[in-house]
Amino acid sequence: MTLKINFKKIHKWVAVVVFIQLFIWLGSGFLLGKVDHSKAAGRDTKMHSTDKLSAFNNELIDIQNILKSYPLATHIELVNLLDMPVYRIRMTSRQHAYQASEYVLINAIDGRLINLASLDAAILNNRLIQDIAQASYKQPLKAQETQLMLAPIEDLPRERNPVWQINTLDSDNTSIYIRANTAQFITHVNDETRWRDLLLMLHFMDYFQEGSFNNMFIKVFGFSTLILSGSGLWWLYRLVRENQIKLIWWTSNKTVLLRNYQKDDITAFTASKNSSILSALLDNDIPIQAICGGGGVCGTCKFNSNGDIRITDAELTLLTKEEIATGLRLSCQHSLSEVTEIELHSRNKNSNKSANKSG
Ligand code: FES
Repeated sequence: MTLKINFKKIHKWVAVVVFIQLFIWLGSGFLLGKVDHSKAAGRDTKMHSTDKLSAFNNELIDIQNILKSYPLATHIELVNLLDMPVYRIRMTSRQHAYQASEYVLINAIDGRLINLASLDAAILNNRLIQDIAQASYKQPLKAQETQLMLAPIEDLPRERNPVWQINTLDSDNTSIYIRANTAQFITHVNDETRWRDLLLMLHFMDYFQEGSFNNMFIKVFGFSTLILSGSGLWWLYRLVRENQIKLIWWTSNKTVLLRNYQKDDITAFTASKNSSILSALLDNDIPIQAICGGGGVCGTCKFNSNGDIRITDAELTLLTKEEIATGLRLSCQHSLSEVTEIELHSRNKNSNKSANKSG
């Protein structure tokens, strides 16, 4: 069994997919230009805060004592958590804060463990979560919903750590996000942010919400475009090689003899010698079947040539060996310059006949 690859079909369907994605890319890009980026970044609601330590009077626990309890720590820092000095101890090494990581938080004054990353422990620290959220939010927090979320998180597609979500229920449906393992404020997400993120997802083809420009879909799209370009160039090469595409600077007319089905009646027709035989026949009101309109895929525009005429790929696909051997060819595949006399295939004879009668 031989597998015949139909390049035209591959080219056509890849082109459809690429065109749809191109349309989405243009549309989402246009709408991105209309987004209120200041609002989407949460500047209307965010309070500037820092975890840099301010001056304090209490004596801190010796860091050496802390490290004895955590010999596998990769990094330790003293930070400010709502004016409370806290040792933030990193147990796993990660390049980005959103990557899954393990931290231990210890009150630097009394040595108490601060755990926001599990529901049980967080009940004890619920007030702390509320206070961190309030510290990031310009207005007083009133009605709200609080929940601990695990990846994947719709508003934060890249985040891989447990996160506290505090829904403010304000008019923009702002949600405040706090990373549970570090007690750090992450961001505010409102309806404008969600709209912007949806457009970015469409624009960068991040359909699996990887949160990255370098996602699987964009690679597939790039590869498809490469196939499209390659198959297009190959197709163009074949068309030029088969003389179906020519650069024409100047052309002249040519008269070709048309033998009727009885071979005792010859007429003639004239057209540009570079036009296809099919176009020349139709331009001269000579009926011929051409279901695909000259696309080279239906095989209905047959004619007989009296000369030795080349065989195209479309003819090898659509005609039988016997038909080709008897000189049958497709009129959409050849130009007038290739023939001096033709005879239309028998399927067209009836229509010629009726045309003659009505004439
Ligand atoms: S018109 Fe269909 S193959 Fe020529």
